[in-house]
Amino acid sequence: MEDGRIRVTRRDVLRGAGAAALVGAVAAGQEPAAPPAKGLARVGPGAVRVPFTLNGAAAEVSVEPRVTLLDALRDRLDLTGTKRICDHGACGGCTVFLDGKPVNSCLVLAVDVSGREVTTIEGLAKGDDLHPVQAAFVKHDAAMCGFCTPGMVMSCAALLSVTKNPTEEQIRRAVAGNLCRCGTYPHVFAAVREAGGGRGADGGAGEAAR
Ligand code: FES
Ligand code: FES
Repeated sequence: MEDGRIRVTRRDVLRGAGAAALVGAVAAGQEPAAPPAKGLARVGPGAVRVPFTLNGAAAEVSVEPRVTLLDALRDRLDLTGTKRICDHGACGGCTVFLDGKPVNSCLVLAVDVSGREVTTIEGLAKGDDLHPVQAAFVKHDAAMCGFCTPGMVMSCAALLSVTKNPTEEQIRRAVAGNLCRCGTYPHVFAAVREAGGGRGADGGAGEAAR
C-alpha cells in the first residue's frame, strides 16, 4: 500500500487462528499431528512461548495461538496504550509498528511476531523526550477524549519515518484508517505538518475543529 501499512484481512486472521496454526520459528508446545511443511512448525492449541523484541528490548510472552497481538500487549504485557476499540480492523486505535511498519494489532496473531520487532506507543518517546509527533500533538491540541490518539500518533510517526515534510493529502492518507469520533483531524494535520518540518502552525486548523 502507498502508506506502507501492512494490510491483514479478517480472513487472514481466521485462517491463521485455526486449530493448526502454522508459524515459523516458534517453539512447539506439543508433538505435531502431522509432519509440518518445510520451514514451518505446528503449534498450539495450548500456550506457546513467543520471543520477540518489544520497544527495543528482548521480550517474551506465553499465549495460545488464537491470541491477537493486541490482547497480548494489553492483557499479558500490561501495555495498555494500544487501544482496543473495534477489535476487527476498522478503527486504527490499535496501531503499532511491526518491523517498522504500522499494523492493526487486533489483526495480527501474537505468535506471528516471534523473532520480530514490535513498537508500541509506550516505546515511541526516548525517555522524557517525546517523539516529534507526540510533541506536536500536544502543541496543536490534537487530542480530545484521546482514545484514538495512540493509534493516530503511531500512523503519523510511520508517515514521517518515510516521508519528510508531507503534504496534507499525504497526512490524510496516512490516517485514513484511524477513526476519530471527536473530529480532531484539522489539529492532527497541523501537528504532523509541523513535526515533519512543514508549515504546521498555519493559524487556522486549530480553532476550526472546535
Ligand atoms: S481495535 Fe484494531 S482496528 Fe480497531
Ligand atoms: S480524540 Fe476522541 S476519538 Fe479521537
